[in-house]
Amino acid sequence: MIALGIEGTAHTCGVGIVDDKGNVLANVIDMYRPATGGIHPREAANHHAEIVVPLVTQATEKAGIGFRDIDVVCFSQGPGLGPCLRTVATGARALALTLKKPIVGVNHCISHLEIGRIKTEAQDPVLLYASGGNTQVIAFANGKYRIFGETLDIGIGNMFDKLGREIGLGYYAGPKIEKAAKEGSKLLELPYSVKGMDMAFSGIMTAAMHHRSKGESIEDICFSVQETTFAMLTEVTERAMAHIEKDEVLLGGGVVQNKRLQEMVSRMAADRGAKMFVPDRTLCMDNGAMIAWTGLIMHKAGVNMSIKDTMIDQRFRTDDVIVTWR
Ligand code: FE2
Repeated sequence: MIALGIEGTAHTCGVGIVDDKGNVLANVIDMYRPATGGIHPREAANHHAEIVVPLVTQATEKAGIGFRDIDVVCFSQGPGLGPCLRTVATGARALALTLKKPIVGVNHCISHLEIGRIKTEAQDPVLLYASGGNTQVIAFANGKYRIFGETLDIGIGNMFDKLGREIGLGYYAGPKIEKAAKEGSKLLELPYSVKGMDMAFSGIMTAAMHHRSKGESIEDICFSVQETTFAMLTEVTERAMAHIEKDEVLLGGGVVQNKRLQEMVSRMAADRGAKMFVPDRTLCMDNGAMIAWTGLIMHKAGVNMSIKDTMIDQRFRTDDVIVTWR
């Protein structure tokens, strides 16, 4: 069985093709990069509308398959930016209807976990999912994927991008913040915003800007923001692992490429006799292969959607998904 998946929740439009053994036959992406400022949802959607058909063609060529070889068409149903979601959902519906193949809408957050389960040795991990739009700690418990902790305001990557813009590092600031942080050493006081099992990031950004106005260096600000926010993520992840007695932690999302975050989580895992898993970079960031794989296992487990079931859901909750494939 072969599945084609289309991802388009935010700035990335991606098309992936997988088989039922979990082999990734193709995984192509194209990212919308605003000239100035942050992501404008309508402009990102226009980008996806222009690029989605060429990406589908490119993916099938790369996989060496014809359109008729596709058994199921999958797409990111949410959560995400409305115009982006609607664009890729329209593309997926058109493809499924033309090919007369089934269609499966996939929860984007769960797909980060499922691709990690098939492409790493993790079997039943706690997922630390840290990206631009999302920050969640997710695990499977009592028949469902449950959120054990999450951001109360903005995704950690979104905060990094805003901070990067404010201090002049430009858009997609994560790697630039990581580089600057290596040169920093002074731990500036920032709010450590863990509330119960949830986290908040926007106040940290405000406090960091306050330090900047007082003349603190960009390097020390980046260092302090990383140390504080990554400690928060690590703490919440550890508490989830302890609470549900899991000894595997999986990382997902763009922000987990950060080596300092990986170092902190792997040390926490080692201290508790657990293991950390990080999928390949191309599968960690938003991509079509994770959507294709999750849609494929959902389809094999009997998930059957009609076109009217494929309405997008900007606030699609991880714990709203009925899990029939585990
Ligand atoms: Fe994501």
